[in-house]
Amino acid sequence: MSSENPYLPMLVVIDSIFIENEARDLKTFRLVFRDKKDKKRFKHECGQFAMISVPGAGESPIGIASSPLDTGYIEFTVKRYPEGVVTTALHGLEEGALLGVRGPYGNSFPMQEMEGKNIVIVGGGFAMTTLRATVKYMLDEQNRSRFEKITVIYGARSPGELLYKSELKEWEGRSDIDAYITVDRGDESWKGREGFVPAVLREAAPGSDNAYVLVCGPPIMLKFTMLPLLELGFGNDRIITSLERRMSCGIGKCGRCGVGSKYVCKDGPVFSYKRISELSEKMM
Ligand SMILES: Cc1cc2nc3c(=O)[nH]c(=O)nc-3n(C[C@H](O)[C@H](O)[C@H](O)COP(=O)(O)OP(=O)(O)OC[C@H]3O[C@@H](n4cnc5c(N)ncnc54)[C@H](O)[C@@H]3O)c2cc1C
Ligand code: FES
Repeated sequence: MSSENPYLPMLVVIDSIFIENEARDLKTFRLVFRDKKDKKRFKHECGQFAMISVPGAGESPIGIASSPLDTGYIEFTVKRYPEGVVTTALHGLEEGALLGVRGPYGNSFPMQEMEGKNIVIVGGGFAMTTLRATVKYMLDEQNRSRFEKITVIYGARSPGELLYKSELKEWEGRSDIDAYITVDRGDESWKGREGFVPAVLREAAPGSDNAYVLVCGPPIMLKFTMLPLLELGFGNDRIITSLERRMSCGIGKCGRCGVGSKYVCKDGPVFSYKRISELSEKMM
């Protein structure tokens, strides 16, 4: 993190931009630190986010999409909202442009608790970003043996909206991970699976014994994924998600992202469903 002034961003340069979808409103930005000291200082964990600032436009919290083991750069996948000031400005930039980064912030997925367990990853749409970081981390040579069976279920509305397409192909081809990639509706070129994520989850039926599930996606997907997870026997303390709230400071000072007595930026964004139920009960 930045030393004295916590609001002072570190300078990064856009090294590469990957266009993720046909509509060109989802791009992955690979950023490199301008200062070597910042590069050394920025050590993130799976599930954390950073505040990305675009000069003249403002700042936004964005999940870190690269693995903690990717050295030399950090990646963020950003959806552009037509009305969105920061995301539109960011999408208008080209390689070589300067940005600011503060962070990493927030808690992380419980990677240590997850060691020796079966891991199920359930992702929907462009909420796959920090889950992608986590899959990459677990599949790394030095980490794969620390986790038992890994099952990934990832879906998007259409084939063009799937993120990280070349990595998905690679995951499907590996024997040490079960990857179920699905789209709500295919097109002429799509030879893969069709179906909503909750239905594919039922079909895959990953065992809940000695298992954790990390689930991130649009609210409708999350809602319909809970029932099959509970039916499969996952306890709500083993179902982990990441919350999104409007943020300003990102460091627990301004109160913008409060959920009950907690701040999503500081106490989250990662919460178990058990914790979320407790917080919602307190708010009633
Ligand atoms: C912890 C955390 C992690 C996040 N990770 C990512 C990520 O990895 N990738 C990513 O693209 N975004 C992510 N977000 C969401 C991202 O922060 C917002 O989309 C972004 O701040 C919007 O900024 P803006 O200035 O473009 O939009 P604003 O100017 O703030 O908003 C203008 C309008 O844009 C639309 N809009 C903005 N944000 C959203 C939204 N999230 N959902 C629906 N409509 C919206 C609304 O119509 C809104 O009124 C994350 C948020 C949090 C809290
Ligand atoms: S964004 Fe300021 S307290 Fe969370």
